[in-house]
This record gives sequence, structure tokens and C-alpha cells, in this order.
Amino acid sequence: MLSELDSLKTAALAALDAAQDETALEAVRVNFLGKKGSVTALSQGMKDVPVEQKKEVGAKLNEVRTAITEGIDTKKLALQAAQDAKAVEGIDITLPGRPGAGVGALHPLTQIRDLAIRTLRRMGFALAEGPEIETEWHCFDALNTPADHPARNEKDTFYLPDGRLLRTHTSSVQVRTMEAAKALPIRIIAPGAAYRRDEIDATHLSVFNQLEGLYVNQDVSLGDLKGTLEYFFREIFGVGTAVRFRPHFFPFTEPSFEIDVKLEAKGKDARWIEIAGCGMVDPAVFAEINKARGDNLFDPETTTGFAFGLGLDRLAMIMHGITDIRHLIENDVRFLQQFAV
Ligand code: PHE
Repeated sequence: MLSELDSLKTAALAALDAAQDETALEAVRVNFLGKKGSVTALSQGMKDVPVEQKKEVGAKLNEVRTAITEGIDTKKLALQAAQDAKAVEGIDITLPGRPGAGVGALHPLTQIRDLAIRTLRRMGFALAEGPEIETEWHCFDALNTPADHPARNEKDTFYLPDGRLLRTHTSSVQVRTMEAAKALPIRIIAPGAAYRRDEIDATHLSVFNQLEGLYVNQDVSLGDLKGTLEYFFREIFGVGTAVRFRPHFFPFTEPSFEIDVKLEAKGKDARWIEIAGCGMVDPAVFAEINKARGDNLFDPETTTGFAFGLGLDRLAMIMHGITDIRHLIENDVRFLQQFAV
């Protein structure tokens, strides 16, 4: 039995030596140490070994088993090391990285949003925010938008089963801000996502980005609105830019305007381009907010304000001459790299 064990050990170590991969290694383990392996078989013979030899044979058995187990572990590590070495063969891992490769830049939309925020913050506007999943009240009712208004149609708005919706504009943040206000004045801007069930094409996405503004105080005038937004757009497009206010309708402002700026596309005559919506906060909005608050902080007799909303995607497209809005979300680096600064 002792010599049998010795030759088993020799055979096992030779088999280990010959094993070229983990499968072969596993086969060696099964052959020698597995349930039906030869070492296991021999150890079952222990019961027939005469008592006076049991100690010696037992020790030998252990020695052989340990030698094979350790041999397998060592070989496994060696195989793994060889595999790792092969993986980096021909690659000099001590070379320094290539400068510039893979260094990112801000997305053009982020750049425009930051520029707009910077400009408006200089004028005293503070950042505000609200949820993208909104109640119908915050998105529509509080903004004087009746239930039969087309914007509330199921075909135009993403409704959730519980009756909430994905906000169709950032104007809901006007409501949130006035609801929570402690005192006047309020002077906020709120950039963020807005959602509409639009067919996606070169100028429409179902998720886009707006920037809302709201200034509420005593004696805010239409002159304040015009001055603020003219200044803003001239900061963005250049001091000489012509800005015009065209009468329009929004349920929550009265009077309401669309703002156009006169810009020339490269090689073309200057033309008016619609860029934002705005107006004086409708007193009906103040009344509804007061009702919800249970006070009269926004006394429609003495409180006035202006609000505006602009599309950041549209702004980016105009500023950079981008002709298809889908480029902004496709994340094609060949497109994005053109705006890296
Ligand atoms: N919420 C309007 C829109 O999405 C824009 C707007 C904002 C108009 C604020 C007036 C005042 O079209």
C-alpha cells in the first residue's frame, strides 16, 4: 500500500505537469481526489490495513493527498498567470496615456443652459426647481388653463395611471414657487425637462428643455419685462440684436407675447426667429394661488409680475445653426466634438 501510494503520487504530479489548461487540471483532480478517484479508492482500503501499520499508511495517505492538492493549486496559479501574460502580450503597460484622448467636454445644451443661467443670475434671478411628474393642478388648473384646453388633451400630454402627468412646460415651477413663497419679491428661473406627445421630427422631441422665469412684486410693469428680456437676448446674441414682442395668447399671462429675435443665418438675409413666450402674470393665477395658500400674499389688486419661457434646445439650434434637433440627443461624438470648448 505504501509503494502504491508513492507511485500514485508520482503519477499525479506527472499528470499535473502535463496539464495545459484548467479543464485538464480539473480532470486530474477528479481522477485522483474525486469521489471515484484513485486516492479515494486507496483510502477506502485503510480498513484492511493491519493495526500496527495504520499510523504509517494513514500519514502517507495524508501526505499524498496534500501533495496533490497543493500541486493543483500551484498549477492553477501558474496557468492563470500565463493567461494574464498572454492577454497583455505586445502591450507596453508602462506607456503614459495619450493626452487628450477621451477627455470630455460639456454638451452644447449644457453650455447654453449655463450661459442663460449665468446671465439671468447676474440680473438677480435665483434658481428654482420642481418635479417633472406633476399634478394636473400645478401644470394646468393653477395656470388658468381650463379642462377643455387642447394642451390637456390625452393626445398631447403623457398622463400617468394615477392622474398625474409629465409636465408639458416648466411653468408648473411658477406655481410651486408661489405656493411655497414666504414673501415678495419672487425672482426665479427654472431650467428643466418638459414633455409632449409630439411626433418626433427635425424640430420636435417628446422630451425637451425649457427655461422658465418669474418675477413677482408690487408694481412690476411691462417695461420691466421688455427691458429684462431684451437685455437677456442681447447678452446671448450680441448687443446689436433686434428683439420684438409679438402679441400672442397664453392662458396664464395677460397680455401675452411671443418674442422674436432678428438673426442672420450664414449667407442669408436676417430674419425674425421666434424664441420665447412671455407675458404679465394673469391675476386669475394669483387668485388661484391665494386660494391654495389660504392667504392673500399675491393680492391681485396690488401684485403684478411677469413670466417667460424659452426652449433651450431651440436656442442651441439657433445659436449653432443646428438643423435637426435629434442631433442633440444622439450622442454622436463627431457632432458633439464641434462644440467642445
Ligand atoms: N409655458 C409656455 C410654453 O411652454 C411658455 C410661457 C412661459 C409663456 C411663461 C408665458 C409665460 O409654451
